[in-house]
Amino acid sequence: MANIQDEIHKRRTFGIISHPDAGKTTLTEKLLLFGGAIQTAGAVKSNKIKKGATSDFMEIERQRGISVATSVMTFEYNNLKINILDTPGHKDFAEDTYRTLTAVDSVILVIDCVKGVEEQTERLMEVCRMRNTPVIIFINKMDREGQNPFDLLDELEQKLNINVRPLTWPINIGANFKGVYNLYEKSLNLFNANKTKIEKEVVSVDIHSDELLKRVGERDTRQLREDVELIEGVYDEFDRETYLSGSVAPVFFGSAVNNFGVQELLDTFTEIAPSTQKRQTDVRVVEPEEKKFSGFIFKIHANLDPKHRDRIAFLRICSGTFERNKFYHHVRLDKNLRFNNPYNFMAQDKEVVDEGFPGDVIGLYDTGNFKIGDTMTEGEDLNFQGIPSFSPEIFKELINLDPMKSKQLEKGIQQLTDEGVAQLFVQPQLGNRKIVGTVGELQYEVIQYRLEHEYGAKCRFDGQSISKACWLTSEDQKKLNEFVRLKGQQIAQDKDGNFVFLAESEWILRMNIQNNPEIQFHFTSEFKRAVEA
Ligand code: G4P
Repeated sequence: MANIQDEIHKRRTFGIISHPDAGKTTLTEKLLLFGGAIQTAGAVKSNKIKKGATSDFMEIERQRGISVATSVMTFEYNNLKINILDTPGHKDFAEDTYRTLTAVDSVILVIDCVKGVEEQTERLMEVCRMRNTPVIIFINKMDREGQNPFDLLDELEQKLNINVRPLTWPINIGANFKGVYNLYEKSLNLFNANKTKIEKEVVSVDIHSDELLKRVGERDTRQLREDVELIEGVYDEFDRETYLSGSVAPVFFGSAVNNFGVQELLDTFTEIAPSTQKRQTDVRVVEPEEKKFSGFIFKIHANLDPKHRDRIAFLRICSGTFERNKFYHHVRLDKNLRFNNPYNFMAQDKEVVDEGFPGDVIGLYDTGNFKIGDTMTEGEDLNFQGIPSFSPEIFKELINLDPMKSKQLEKGIQQLTDEGVAQLFVQPQLGNRKIVGTVGELQYEVIQYRLEHEYGAKCRFDGQSISKACWLTSEDQKKLNEFVRLKGQQIAQDKDGNFVFLAESEWILRMNIQNNPEIQFHFTSEFKRAVEA
């Protein structure tokens, strides 16, 4: 039997995030290539939904298939077990990405050097900052005419609200890109554009040596020396503890498609990234070394084929050893369940596993027992925190088009929202009017399609002029009830029965916050568990 301590220390579970097109898929593939998990480039398919394919459901289904196959990619490198959790690139599936970030111990953020910090990058980093997740930044596409690296670093600090520390530094950019100087190792890594083979030249070179001059020429040597002096003067020495606390992000430059800078990134990652971390619950902190198993569900993937209504729930193991066929406690349902075919996901395959350790993600066949955020334990009643819902960006009313199929519609929308496809808000005062909130239009098409094909229910969505949902609490229950009664149409209940204020505009929301100091307006649903605790 494996030693659990060794297994925990071996694991590095992380996610790669980026704004679409910055190079997440390419970098993931290159890491797998360097890690020996795949042999050729092109083996990992992009899980992007192609532009213009928004109403092509075969495309969505195909992509969903890919996304389940690449949900977790595992490989061994330097005696470590590396688990990469895939995150969907498409903006409309951003909720999925936020939730996946709750299951990682660290993150690699990919930035396109031409575009700099983009909208999606900011949102994703906000989620990392909420949880103090350690972040390494990879500035990609250095073979293209990008922005000045110092300007990029300033932009990262300003827009992402984090300190940065370059660990490599580019020598030129675009067509003149010559390579990077590794500030940590004090070595020169010369660029050799090559998309298929791993070929590189690394030489240990002192920044003041003639060897540097010989290798990169006078002009670039002068520039590099100036840059390095400036970096050493402006940025603090790299400190691992500060990185682990999520307050400083080390930065690497490279070109994923050309295999450049990827090895440095991977080597440094394995050296500094955290192994399995402890996790907060509503009652106490759970340490990975604890003997008893615990974990939580952060993603549910449903089979779109109506003949096979099975789902795969993805469980992140937080403590102890998970064993096949052993009974575990489903806290929310207060029910014991066992799993005879838990899956481990490899780069392109999945295999049944007998055991799993903290940091691992396993796939469990589910017939409808799981909701996103559910906790499994060996009996203890606790709930893992940090799996909040955020306010959706688009709100539409769900209209039933076939009164004979109300039950199917009800069941369908419940199950789809359990999976986290969208958020459901019900307005009991308005005859149980159902408002479905999402982060992207695509979700409505997915829901409509799935309700029809899996549940036989037809529906339509009517746009609503709602811009934000806020969860409401108050120390004074009477005041809360009064507010709920007064606001009538603007009040709904989420899936757990919590009151939510549906604001038509930012202005209306601000006014209501100002005029009702005894009511707390929460921008995420996380308060729930904190309140219960
Ligand atoms: P994503 O998952 O973050 O959405 O990005 P993805 O890896 O799919 O990369 C987006 C595009 O950027 C791809 O081109 C990819 O080849 C390119 N790319 C990735 N890394 C680099 C790099 O270092 N330099 C340059 N110049 N390009 C890079 P595409 O044309 O959209 O797709 P493809 O046909 O090349 O696969």
